[in-house]
Amino acid sequence: MDGVTDHPYRHIQKKYGTPQVIYTEFTNVEGVCHGAIRLLKDFLFDETQRPIVAQIYGTTPKYFRQVAVVLCELGFDGIDINMGCPAKSVDSSGAGAALIKTPKLAQEIIAETKAGIQDYLHGLRSKDCPDISQEIATEVAKRHEKLPQEYKENREIPVSIKTRIGYDTPVVEEWIPTLLAMNPAVIALHGRTLKQQYSGESNWNEIHKATQLCKNTETLLLGNGDVLNYEQAIEYVKKYEVDGILIGRGSFGNPFAFQPHSDKLLQQHNIFEIAIEHCKLYETTYESATYHFMPMRKHLGWYVKGIEGAREVRIELFQANNSMEVESVFKKHNLI
Ligand SMILES: Cc1cc2nc3c(=O)[nH]c(=O)nc-3n(C[C@H](O)[C@H](O)[C@H](O)COP(=O)(O)O)c2cc1C
Repeated sequence: MDGVTDHPYRHIQKKYGTPQVIYTEFTNVEGVCHGAIRLLKDFLFDETQRPIVAQIYGTTPKYFRQVAVVLCELGFDGIDINMGCPAKSVDSSGAGAALIKTPKLAQEIIAETKAGIQDYLHGLRSKDCPDISQEIATEVAKRHEKLPQEYKENREIPVSIKTRIGYDTPVVEEWIPTLLAMNPAVIALHGRTLKQQYSGESNWNEIHKATQLCKNTETLLLGNGDVLNYEQAIEYVKKYEVDGILIGRGSFGNPFAFQPHSDKLLQQHNIFEIAIEHCKLYETTYESATYHFMPMRKHLGWYVKGIEGAREVRIELFQANNSMEVESVFKKHNLI
């Protein structure tokens, strides 16, 4: 999730929630191929986060092919293509959920991403890709060197799609077969249209329709939208016959959302100690970057959601510039 599921966040979620699979923030292939080295921060991860899937978006098939090589070299366990983002800037470029309106291009993007994985298996590396800058290729090769041996080996990693049920109206009956024709390993389906953005409710009946279309194929169908915890996920798996569930916003401020009895686990742990651990990892991850503490603050707001006097605590946390200042706010309010 853009602006949320960075390396420190995923590390904390994986440590306390143990989700079975985790995705990076979406990253723009045009940006990577135009030399934006800062985007490589989206592809930072540690070994605790496996299986880790890199999510990419864009509209240029040849760039998907080259970024697939980069992602293989970085040691990711899968590549996910975002065909679900409703943001205006993404939609207007024809990427994200706008690809629902250009099915031929969507198919070409999947084919090229798969071709990039084959290029890698045939020995191509980032430095050999015409649109990957030398600076990016050098950094990618450096990270590759640090991988455990098993992830340095050639592996044929899967390609998956994250999408929505339609652009302005649900079109699952046409859209899902369009994707299935390209044989993706997984389709993750958010039960809203692009037009809905995040309003209304996720339409699980449309998601159920999609599961029926995936029967007797090799593609797994994951449902998504408004699931808050493990128990609800299990209920929906049975009710809507999905192969699994993605939890997004339910994990904000609650790393236990992926585990049974998350309420009990929240009571057993001091969530504010976990918040400090998160802050410290954030600082060490981005210490040398021109990256401020600001993006960390929204997480702090989520961690204190629902506590007594949350508003006052949040105002103070939103002025914090490092983990020490966060710690003193928590101490002042007797939270740790
Ligand atoms: C702040 C924010 C950022 C998001 N970024 C992404 C993203 O980068 N890639 C993606 O596939 N979905 C993204 N989404 C959509 C979520 O993955 C998910 O589909 C949506 O929030 C519905 O699921 P939920 O109800 O479990 O949150 C984002 C959603 C939010 C709220």
